[in-house]
Amino acid sequence: MAESMKGLKRSHRCTEVSNKNIGEEITVMGWVQKRRNLGSLIFIDLRDRSGLLQIVFDGKDIGEQGFEKAESLRSEFVIAVVGKVEARSGAVNENLATGDIELRGTELRILSESDTPPFPIDENVQIKDELRLKYRYLDLRRANHQRNLKLRSDVTTSVRSFLAEEGFLEIETPILGKSTPEGARDYLVPSRVHPGKFYGLPQSPQLFKQLLMCSGYDRYFQIAKCFRDEDLRADRQPEFTQIDMELSFVDIDDVIDVNERLLAKIFKESVGIDVQLPIQRMTYEEAMNRFGSDKPDTRFSMELVDVSEVVKGCGFGVFTSALENNGSVRGLNVKGQSTMPRKKIDALVAFAKDFGAKGLAYLAIGEDGTYKSSFTKFLTEDETNNLITAMEGEPGDLLVFAADKNEVVWDVLGNLRLKLAKDLELYNSDQFHFLWVTEFPLLEWSEEQQRFVAKHHPFTMPMEEDLHMIDSDPGKVRAKAYDIVLNGTELGGGSVRIYQNEIQEKMFEILGFSKEEAEERFGFLLEAFKYGVPPHAGLAYGLDRLIMLMTKEDSIREVIAFPKVKDASCLMTNAPDVVDEVQLRELELKISEIEEDK
Ligand code: AMO
Ligand code: AMP
Repeated sequence: MAESMKGLKRSHRCTEVSNKNIGEEITVMGWVQKRRNLGSLIFIDLRDRSGLLQIVFDGKDIGEQGFEKAESLRSEFVIAVVGKVEARSGAVNENLATGDIELRGTELRILSESDTPPFPIDENVQIKDELRLKYRYLDLRRANHQRNLKLRSDVTTSVRSFLAEEGFLEIETPILGKSTPEGARDYLVPSRVHPGKFYGLPQSPQLFKQLLMCSGYDRYFQIAKCFRDEDLRADRQPEFTQIDMELSFVDIDDVIDVNERLLAKIFKESVGIDVQLPIQRMTYEEAMNRFGSDKPDTRFSMELVDVSEVVKGCGFGVFTSALENNGSVRGLNVKGQSTMPRKKIDALVAFAKDFGAKGLAYLAIGEDGTYKSSFTKFLTEDETNNLITAMEGEPGDLLVFAADKNEVVWDVLGNLRLKLAKDLELYNSDQFHFLWVTEFPLLEWSEEQQRFVAKHHPFTMPMEEDLHMIDSDPGKVRAKAYDIVLNGTELGGGSVRIYQNEIQEKMFEILGFSKEEAEERFGFLLEAFKYGVPPHAGLAYGLDRLIMLMTKEDSIREVIAFPKVKDASCLMTNAPDVVDEVQLRELELKISEIEEDK
């Protein structure tokens, strides 16, 4: 029977009690983690948000009825205990914050009973994801989640206080809006009042924050919910949170400066990490050439080497034909791995093929200087030696090469580099390597749509020195865009914005919007720019990714209280779900026949 807590008031959380409280009477409330009966004594580990406290019930203190009640306790019962803090009678538990004390119970109330939970509330027990997420409220009781969500809250508190000190105003922007073209598909909400019309949920507050700059708010920030209907991955959810900001009268260096200080503060305060400032900067071009990625993991080297010049004119058709087709030949030197078994090399070739490679050529340099290779038979001895020299190959090294279009070579070797580093443990996961990547291309060619799309978004300013190519060679134009990268993950991105209507209109034209379409979708922005707009720039972090990296979790799911699974559904509430006829009728919506297997 559930009892009331009337007359009792919690005095401490479990781990707020210490040996300084010995002799005091206190009241604690929480969940039963574990019960042990030792004849005349019953021990309870009591759990709350702060951690565990040992409670001991002795018939002498609590009476016969109280002792019987203590005997009836089961895991996850919610109880209130009044008692006296004492030094531990048994062995001190070094692993517990409260390991040298215990609470000798004098009153026990069972506030709520519990069925046997479907899994133990213990972070060290592996539970299938489906089960954890179905009972997310129980999963969230486990210590790892309690730690993660506490850290998440600490970080947003730090962010708010830092940005407020720097003169940023926290301003909310609408969730029901018009779609912003950020590259992903929009989530749509049907309007009842305007049948046949839809709101789009924001992929980011991009346009609103720019309009706030037009309105003179100077510095804005928001911890903003964003919605993107895209394929989910470990670092992507359909709804996620950004730390979003925008600043007026600034250029790239100003945005970088304030953000470096923000990062240094939150890493120091939340996880005790010193971020070395200034953070290294690298252009997109350099990042691609050296690491095959626009978000390089710089905790380890093993950089790509362009050997196109060295193999030009050699006898290996795979290499020369790639070069003839404007591609390149690049390699990785996998140090000390010349004895990698054939099976493992085959697995690397298969991995490369998954990323679009036609193959992966390799050359293992034995300790005795002899080679094992899939292609040196096509090369002269000089050509082989020159290639090894270019790769700084030494006895014991394994060299691997990809030949193709640049984009394919970068993708293949960039991903292979990450895989090898993980397999061979080339980095220390306690390290935090930050990097700014700058000078991104303004545009990207979409094979699917057969047109240019914005690499960041359509409001990003081209670099002034490249503006002259905007008509003749738009693909070559670089943007005033920057990403902040941490350990190979894109943590955030932003740009200096276009604030001149002629450039914005040009941009829409390059992206294939007709004048009417641009007017229809972004007319309000172009109109706003007519009434005095300050130069402005901004940036947004993925808060979920930030916390994932701080907590060293593998997925942002572990740092979001109620996440969705791969097919964007919620296993606990069963969202999305069918709605009743009345709701559909009000919205004037009809569901057409849906195929069974969908
Ligand atoms: P961008 O699209 O680069 O920029 O997004 C900024 C950051 O948001 C995070 N992010 C995500 N996190 C979880 N799940 C997702 N599906 C997801 N998509 C993005 C990433 C990313 O770096 N309006 C611009 C910012 C600006 O220009 O100021 C924007 O949204 O960490
Ligand atoms: P082949 O002549 O097709 O047997 O290929 C000889 C070697 O070159 C094999 O090890 C292939 O995996 C490799 N190879 C094939 N295509 C490529 C490519 N585009 N880039 C790098 N290596 C390749």
